[in-house]
Amino acid sequence: MMLMNRVETALVNSPPRRWLQRYYEVPWMRRLGGPLPPGARVLELGCGPGYGTQLILDRFGAGHVDAIDLDPAMITRARRRLTRRYGQRVRLAQGSATDLHTTLGEPLSRYDAVFDFAIIHHIPHWPDALAEIARVLTPGGRFYFDEVTALALATSTYRLLFDHPAENRFTAEEFLSELARHHLVVDQQYLTRRRGRYVLGVATYRP
Ligand SMILES: C[S@@+](CC[C@H](N)C(=O)[O-])C[C@H]1O[C@@H](n2cnc3c(N)ncnc32)[C@H](O)[C@@H]1O
Repeated sequence: MMLMNRVETALVNSPPRRWLQRYYEVPWMRRLGGPLPPGARVLELGCGPGYGTQLILDRFGAGHVDAIDLDPAMITRARRRLTRRYGQRVRLAQGSATDLHTTLGEPLSRYDAVFDFAIIHHIPHWPDALAEIARVLTPGGRFYFDEVTALALATSTYRLLFDHPAENRFTAEEFLSELARHHLVVDQQYLTRRRGRYVLGVATYRP
């Protein structure tokens, strides 16, 4: 497992990152996947400093969010951002998206939605995370994702500034077909941008 380097940590905690989440990623996710059912139970993977969690609560109207991150420093930041404002509507836990049982001690089929704001490309054995997502979603539950593909990770900007797992990277097509293997059905609800460097969409769990 890999934590982010200093440059990426600073970027994730910056106003431009929050701007992109608020004005680009969340509106597109809503457009493609629609709103959540009232009072929805949501899991956010790799919540970082918790700004995405705030948008899931405020913009999607989630009833409760369990938000996890591998990095304890991120959980501390998220706690500072969220606890006073949202109280019992948020639970934060440190641990890996590839082992939700250890991280959350949850039973199966618990969540109406799972969110991935750019974390799965950090996981060397990323199909394990998709298997976990399918395991914890209710039938008909939705997986909202925005991911960084192998094409972006191969650019000089990404290679110079950030550290990512070198093996087992995925293209947009590989990510979408692995989703299908786990019964996470995307149909036409996705888009790629910057010529396949990023893939954003919504899958529905249809076991
Ligand atoms: C690029 S940041 C994105 C943070 C936040 N979601 C955002 O969009 O600003 C990736 C986050 O995933 C976390 N992460 C990496 N591997 C993880 C894993 N296996 N399980 C859970 N979180 C992980 C990192 O610690 C980091 O906070």
